[in-house]
Amino acid sequence: MIKGVMVSCRLDRLYVVPTGQPIFKSERDLTPSVYRFYMLRSALHDMPNIEVSDIEIRSESKSYALDTINCLIERYNIHKDSKIFWICGADILYEFERWYKPEEIARKVSLLVSARPGTSVDADSKKAQEIRNRYAMDVQILTLNTPDVSSTFIRKTRDFSMVPNAVRRFISINDLYSEDWPIHAITDEAYSEFMSALRLLFVDLSEKRLIHSMNTAILSAKYALRFGYSPEKALIAGLLHDCAKEIPLKQMTRMASDIIDDIWPTEMLHGPAGVVYARDRYEIEDSDILDAICYHTTGRPNMSGIEKVVYLADKLEPARQYDDLEPIREMVKTDLERALVVCFHAVKESLARKGREMHPLSIEALCELEQYSV
Ligand SMILES: [Fe+2]
Ligand SMILES: [Fe+2]
Repeated sequence: MIKGVMVSCRLDRLYVVPTGQPIFKSERDLTPSVYRFYMLRSALHDMPNIEVSDIEIRSESKSYALDTINCLIERYNIHKDSKIFWICGADILYEFERWYKPEEIARKVSLLVSARPGTSVDADSKKAQEIRNRYAMDVQILTLNTPDVSSTFIRKTRDFSMVPNAVRRFISINDLYSEDWPIHAITDEAYSEFMSALRLLFVDLSEKRLIHSMNTAILSAKYALRFGYSPEKALIAGLLHDCAKEIPLKQMTRMASDIIDDIWPTEMLHGPAGVVYARDRYEIEDSDILDAICYHTTGRPNMSGIEKVVYLADKLEPARQYDDLEPIREMVKTDLERALVVCFHAVKESLARKGREMHPLSIEALCELEQYSV
């Protein structure tokens, strides 16, 4: 639809705004915002004059169209004499009157409505005329040659043949829409805590690390469900395990020194520093979650279930492409401890190839696991 609009209409610029917290349905029914945002960016990155905007998905409040319009005008410095089109599907015609302050929206934008295959053109035209009459609003209906398929249908059937190549690649790399998707299994309270944390993480992490964190969160929750641990704790711990990773080193070192007494290698400091950051910025108090963040790079003896699943998910999340991961991914389908042992060995060998030794906590963890699991 986006590409169709750019071709059919002579627009100077187009802002694509992935929905944040929708008004008329649950956010939980949508693909998590991080994925939608970066999926769209990958699909549209080569199209001039199109920008994917994060204004709704970063916002703490519900996504009212009027707020979005005002934010767009302010953020992108849109001139007051510019003609602004709000581009949407024809279903919006039937909800518009229930929107917040439709009169004010009508004063600011025109509606550019894309007729959807399978909907009645006569009914859409009649509704469009009603809106024109009632709000003195400019409403135009576009007929685009878009595929006769909805995103809900594609997600449910997992038939991605009709989505653009870049999106198909993104879905495959990050293993989206798998059958054991764990978000449905967590409580409403945990879900809203998760989404609040995600909005902050958007500010704290770069694209690659943010997607890695989301993948780790989802996989941690899957493992937790599989092995009888709390999916809620695993989800948050997985999401925040690298929350301190992009903090300047000096500050990170100072934060880590509040948690550990001994000296850790620089690349591991974001674990203990993350405990301080998760507590202060993300208001996490749960010790299981904080411990999983702290020890996700090292492991330690007597690891809790949440620590184990986050340690493994961090190494095995679908976008990780190392050669030796497949046997461990296979093993974790049935045996968490055995998979951990093999994973610790893989880390040990990889460090040895660089002439380095494993962290003492990892050595202790491996010894203990081998005693009980072999
Ligand atoms: Fe990490
Ligand atoms: Fe990580």
